[in-house]
Amino acid sequence: MACFRRARTRTSDEVLSSDRWGGYHPFVARFEQEFAAFQQCRFGLSACNGTVTIEMALEALGIGVGDEVIVPAISFISTATAVSRVGATPVFVDIEPDTFNIDPERIREAIGTKTRAIIPVHFGGPMADMDAITAVASAHGLPILEDAAHAHGSEWNGTRAGSIGAISSFSFQNGKVMTAGEGGILLSNDEGLIDRAREVLDQGRRKGEGWFFHYSLGTNYRITAWQSAVLIAQLERLPEQNARRARTAAIIRERLRDLRGLHFQRVPDAARVHTNYLLLGWVDGDRGAFHKNLTGAGFPCTPFYPHTLYQNPLYREHKNCRVMPCPNAEARIKDAFWVPHRALLGTEDDAMALAAAIRNSTLS
Ligand SMILES: Cc1ncc(COP(=O)(O)O)c(C=O)c1O
Repeated sequence: MACFRRARTRTSDEVLSSDRWGGYHPFVARFEQEFAAFQQCRFGLSACNGTVTIEMALEALGIGVGDEVIVPAISFISTATAVSRVGATPVFVDIEPDTFNIDPERIREAIGTKTRAIIPVHFGGPMADMDAITAVASAHGLPILEDAAHAHGSEWNGTRAGSIGAISSFSFQNGKVMTAGEGGILLSNDEGLIDRAREVLDQGRRKGEGWFFHYSLGTNYRITAWQSAVLIAQLERLPEQNARRARTAAIIRERLRDLRGLHFQRVPDAARVHTNYLLLGWVDGDRGAFHKNLTGAGFPCTPFYPHTLYQNPLYREHKNCRVMPCPNAEARIKDAFWVPHRALLGTEDDAMALAAAIRNSTLS
């Protein structure tokens, strides 16, 4: 911890004493390289948040008006609105009832003549079934854009999140397992895709060309040197924190293995290394009472999203989107809950206390 503080102070001091506090400080490129390497990817492009990174990825893939993009019915809104904001149409597809991740079979059924990409979200940390999704995508010649906002360090059969799809997006927003308050990054092994995204992010400029030369309609989505300095330090401690959360989650799951009426997110063996961004589950009984009991006992808990993405006012009555049947997503919004990752960073005793509180909240 002391080492982390020293590293952070040193990098922050270097930004302070430089004349480049914005997106051109060398720390920005350094963090991009370090994070890309950590996720087993070749190229990175950091940005001001993990919403515009999805938009830029779609633009880099050439997706726009008249195109459809497949997204899960359960995610944070950005996964869908990024599609809408580039002028394309989100197609909402059901999740698997137990992993909470997009169901590859339902993806297959949703693909049509206008489909241009698939966006799986690695929901809560464990990666979506990338073998099955890659098989569907390849059969139809579609690129995969991984929304890896919950998956810093998550793996699918030993391969890190963000390195399987054509391009991937991570968030460093305040609630994430690595944060600079705000921030995001795009990763890809295809330098061309990253260069196209960079052109959007940096006012239509091109590498090696003049500052006042703008080749396409871009904007300014750059991250700052301050955020990059913080993220360099955050990345140093991520492996230890991911391991600590995994230990806590394993204790809780083991202690509650035989508890009736409570189910945890199923984590396929291929996805067993993950962030534990959310300890996710669902209850058979009264979710409201469970939530009240657990928070009343002093533990953080969120009674899941209040609706599927397509039930948001923005997409209500299936306006500006296409909706496939989503019975699993509609079931989970009624009975699911999550405990946020911060509650999993404590000691073994803290883990046992949380397990006991979940047990009591389920029974009472
Ligand atoms: C799955 C998912 N995608 C995208 C985002 C958007 O990230 P940001 O808040 O950095 O814009 C989030 C963030 O909360 C998220 O949970």
